[in-house]
Amino acid sequence: MGRALAPLPANPTSLSLLLLLLLHLFSPLQPVEALGFQFGTFNPSTDYDTLAPIGPAVINKNALQVTPDSIGNVILTNQSGRILYKQGFKLWDGPPEAPTKVASFNTSFVINISPIKNGTPGEGLAFIVAPDPNLPAGSFGGYLGLTNATTDGHASNHLLAVEFDTFKQDYDPDANHIGLDINSVESNQTVPLADHGFDLAPNHTVFFHVWIEYDGGRELLEVYMIDEDESTPTKPKPASPIMTANLDMSKVVNQNSYFGFAASTGDNAELNCVLSWNMTVEELPKGTPAGLVIGLAVGIPAAALALAGAAALGVWAWRRRAAARDPNILGTLKCLPGMPREFKFRDLKRATGNFDEGNKLGQGGFGVVYKGVLTAESRRVAVKKFSRDELKSKDDFLAELTIISRLRHRHLVPLLGWCHQNGMLLLVYEYMPKGSLDGHIFCGPERQRLEWSHRYKIVAGVASALHYLHDEFDQKVLHRDLKASNIMLDSNFNARLGDFGLARAIDDEKNSYAELEGVPGTIGYIAPECFHTGKATRESDIFGFGAVILEVVCGQRPWTRAEFDGFQFLADWVWSLHRDGRILAAVDGRLGGDYAVEEARRLLLLGLACSHPIAAERPKTPAIVQILSGSVEVPRVPPFRPAFVWPSAGLLNEEGDTTDVTPMTSSSLFGPDWTSDIR
Ligand SMILES: *[C@@H]1O[C@H](CO)[C@@H](O)[C@H](O)[C@H]1NC(C)=O
Ligand SMILES: *[C@@H]1O[C@H](CO)[C@@H](O)[C@H](O)[C@H]1NC(C)=O
Ligand SMILES: *[C@@H]1O[C@H](CO)[C@@H](O)[C@H](O)[C@H]1NC(C)=O
Ligand SMILES: *[C@@H]1O[C@H](CO)[C@@H](O)[C@H](O)[C@H]1NC(C)=O
Ligand SMILES: *[C@@H]1O[C@H](CO)[C@@H](O)[C@H](O)[C@H]1NC(C)=O
Ligand SMILES: *[C@@H]1O[C@H](CO)[C@@H](O)[C@H](O)[C@H]1NC(C)=O
Repeated sequence: MGRALAPLPANPTSLSLLLLLLLHLFSPLQPVEALGFQFGTFNPSTDYDTLAPIGPAVINKNALQVTPDSIGNVILTNQSGRILYKQGFKLWDGPPEAPTKVASFNTSFVINISPIKNGTPGEGLAFIVAPDPNLPAGSFGGYLGLTNATTDGHASNHLLAVEFDTFKQDYDPDANHIGLDINSVESNQTVPLADHGFDLAPNHTVFFHVWIEYDGGRELLEVYMIDEDESTPTKPKPASPIMTANLDMSKVVNQNSYFGFAASTGDNAELNCVLSWNMTVEELPKGTPAGLVIGLAVGIPAAALALAGAAALGVWAWRRRAAARDPNILGTLKCLPGMPREFKFRDLKRATGNFDEGNKLGQGGFGVVYKGVLTAESRRVAVKKFSRDELKSKDDFLAELTIISRLRHRHLVPLLGWCHQNGMLLLVYEYMPKGSLDGHIFCGPERQRLEWSHRYKIVAGVASALHYLHDEFDQKVLHRDLKASNIMLDSNFNARLGDFGLARAIDDEKNSYAELEGVPGTIGYIAPECFHTGKATRESDIFGFGAVILEVVCGQRPWTRAEFDGFQFLADWVWSLHRDGRILAAVDGRLGGDYAVEEARRLLLLGLACSHPIAAERPKTPAIVQILSGSVEVPRVPPFRPAFVWPSAGLLNEEGDTTDVTPMTSSSLFGPDWTSDIR
């Protein structure tokens, strides 16, 4: 689990980011001198917020597995991967031709490299400073996930690495050395480790604790290392470095760069694991927000951070002015067509026992939902209290209200009314006695299992609601945050889609993930293209729906925790079963075989079709509704999950300037690239 040092929160929510940024920008107190983070161990359920795996890399078994770690379905040879910290760091200051200051950094980490089945190890692992979160195609084998046959040695790589190399290439001194790599796998400097009594990848388990210290002022890089029997280091840092190099980092790396690890395997394979990782980086004065642009490409929290940063000041100032012009939100509300009823704050406060913790039903991106009883009419309700700062909340509130007040569908949670009083914004919904779907599918054995007919009905209900939002409602609406916890169940186990906190009518301006909030939703439910475009689309909603289908049928969350035979994502596992012609093995074991075989097959195949890495290939809601009713066949699902390639046809880069946009297979997030050969 990672812990960021100030001022980066480890798990940046938009709210905390905003507050943080505002605090940071408006308070001259507390100068921060070092940035950084600590990962004492790695946890897949939290650390994907801050770490971006690229290629087949995953977080598994409390470690970063930079190349695949499982024998069986996963191909271990000829692989390369990277895992980077999503937030970039400013590494030098001043004009590019004459930098005035170069940041110092220190990092320490524990690694373990093991040959497979006592075979010959290959190829190696590296600590890297990289310009972007991409992985060059063909960087397996001797390229260590750093470069490839085309790019090796090019200054445009802007790549710095300290390699831990276990396989001898023509240009290497041996099969057991460290090296300093500048834009190339042909190291500028190497140190054979046999001289120091170290064997990077012996047949028994060994851990290495490594310290890399870079002094920007003295232009000096030092590497220290020591072997350990356990993953928890016990020995102190050695007195003298094992490698020392003179290096002006500003001549090599981009001003804003990313830290992380890269690794590869070749004809011989090994496990390339990082077990813990600390990093501190000297903070340089904030200049032009160059990092903000880069942040967009990196991933969700980075984008959120960047955008919050860019937007916070501008939007904040703008909102203040706007609010001053029209301080009366009530006027706006009362003009909304078909406006539901206005509640008194006093009544809602009483209904929820003064918003008592014990009445909390759930928490969304924008507020907390409480259970309540309106005593006068002895009616149960769910009250959503918006949690954000007042000015921002009003916008969310209005957005939600404007949309929901006009939506009417039997698979949407009905809105009863609203309240704006005492500076509080509240929405009142019909109470859903059975709670949210996730409470039913992920429940322990003591709770009643969700029977098959209910599961099928729930999926069909969600599809029907989605069809209404996407195609039937007069204004196209995206849900943008489709997941089991946002699907409510009424007393008859009918699905009711709730939490439109993130819904926005598509009116060009507002269909973008790249709003102040950054990309909402949750990993595993987010379509691969969204990591690049930052935009919600109907296709990305369908991807989330696919994840929900698989969850409901398999009774598993869309991404690890329980491991799916070495697959990190539920969809990858189901896809592999499909390939092996035994897709029904994916059905939730808790059903005890008590399900309709044809329906299960239909749902699983539909779930896979909706999880297609290429947005244009996913079915649309009219077809989905027909498939679920059994009137149309499920689309053919290829035996191997296609690779996600960026940029993909039809979804072009918004920036116009496509320099540095390289096709990237993002198979770590979305499945191994099965186009390579199978053992
Ligand atoms: C790195 O560690 C050295 C001591 O080994 C310390 O003097 C220096 O300030 C540290 N630099 C950063 C950026 O943490
Ligand atoms: C990271 O820092 C913590 C606290 O200083 C320390 O206990 C831990 O050993 C460090 N980890 C590594 C890999 O150096
Ligand atoms: C590991 O064991 C295998 C066979 O058991 C042997 O061929 C190989 O050389 C050993 N590797 C090392 C590094 O000792
Ligand atoms: C190397 O990577 C670049 C982009 O990262 C790509 O354009 C090129 O095709 C790759 N070369 C090989 C041989 O894979
Ligand atoms: C060492 O690094 C420089 C860049 O600083 C590079 O131009 C040079 O080719 C490298 N030397 C070797 C032997 O790789
Ligand atoms: C790895 O790739 C190389 C070069 O593309 C190829 O010759 C070799 O057969 C591959 N090895 C395996 C085990 O796939």
